[in-house]
Amino acid sequence: MSYFERMIKKAEGLRSKEDVLILAIETSCDETSAAVVKNGRTVLSNIISSQVEVHKAYGGVVPEIASRKHVEAINQTIDEALRTSNTAMSDIDAIAVTYGPGLVGALLVGVSVAKALAFGLSVPLIGVHHIEGHISANYIEHPELVPPYLCLVVSGGHTMIVLVKDYGVYETMGQTLDDAAGEAFDKIARTLGLDYPGGPAIQRIAQSGDPDAFDFPRVTIKDNPYDFSFSGLKTAVINNIHNLRQAGKPIPAADVAASFQKAVVDVLTDKTVSCALALNMNRLAVAGGVAANHLLKDQLEHTARRHGIKLYRPSPVLCTDNAAMIGCAGYYRLLRGDIKDLLLNAVPYLPLSKI
Ligand code: KG4
Ligand code: ZN
Repeated sequence: MSYFERMIKKAEGLRSKEDVLILAIETSCDETSAAVVKNGRTVLSNIISSQVEVHKAYGGVVPEIASRKHVEAINQTIDEALRTSNTAMSDIDAIAVTYGPGLVGALLVGVSVAKALAFGLSVPLIGVHHIEGHISANYIEHPELVPPYLCLVVSGGHTMIVLVKDYGVYETMGQTLDDAAGEAFDKIARTLGLDYPGGPAIQRIAQSGDPDAFDFPRVTIKDNPYDFSFSGLKTAVINNIHNLRQAGKPIPAADVAASFQKAVVDVLTDKTVSCALALNMNRLAVAGGVAANHLLKDQLEHTARRHGIKLYRPSPVLCTDNAAMIGCAGYYRLLRGDIKDLLLNAVPYLPLSKI
């Protein structure tokens, strides 16, 4: 029997094991994270070693630095995840790892460590799609949430409305044609001279701003009402700032931030809720870093409730990148026997439909 056939047999055996412990690893961007997750939904530990302070100096993530920092932090992060969960390495039943999409050099660190650990422990290796991880973060605190449901995914690299038909079965109903929502937050923050990451910074100063001070555009797309476009909004905001600067006028940063944030949230809310209504879906989830935004959560929740739709959202720490969500998604892949061999590679542009 080949090594991979032995792993498939092991994975089959785990389906009837009472407690399945997965060690999960996430290194797709600028957080080095490791978690121990029991039976897919119970998080025993979730260690996140953030590189944000390093990248702040450059106003965004520098891929080469991110890879190096992952190499420095990964072993310690895994040790801590095992220690705080009181788990011995020998208790681990499977290794789950993000293999795409993301920064290739960053992904490769996690994938290489995961392959080495899976081989050393002789346990199945599970490859997880980063966005599937974000969606699955909703299962951790909401035991009652099961497919089918609709999910709005809003991260630094992705903005999409996904129909979760079953565990691991996704249909994209709409997506951004240009910038992701998080990317727009980051770019506007940079233009306003705020720190990276831009989302939390915009949210903070928007609190004291007037969301109606500027009438920024809300774009509708003819071909697919559930697609998004944020480049027009981004340009409108940046032009406004430049015009004020050129005229020697002060920039009302709080008003700009509040009006920009409101424009993004209006578009995300309207499209997602109308998609849920069209599909007759009464369960809606939101996922990804931008899901940590308070206004988005409040407005989505409020609008959804008006239409009899319940909103699910992970707590903010589980919205941004973390390994617990990867362990959760990995568990459902393991149950289906979907494991990877040791040839697993990082795939920087992995589509959700190809997994
Ligand atoms: O999901 P994530 O941690 O990483 C990616 O997979 O991209 O998302 C990071 C993005 C960044 O663009 C960041 O500015 C944004 O999420 N973000 C927020 C908030 N917290 C993080 N955007 C708006 N409001 C927030 N509170
Ligand atoms: Zn992410």
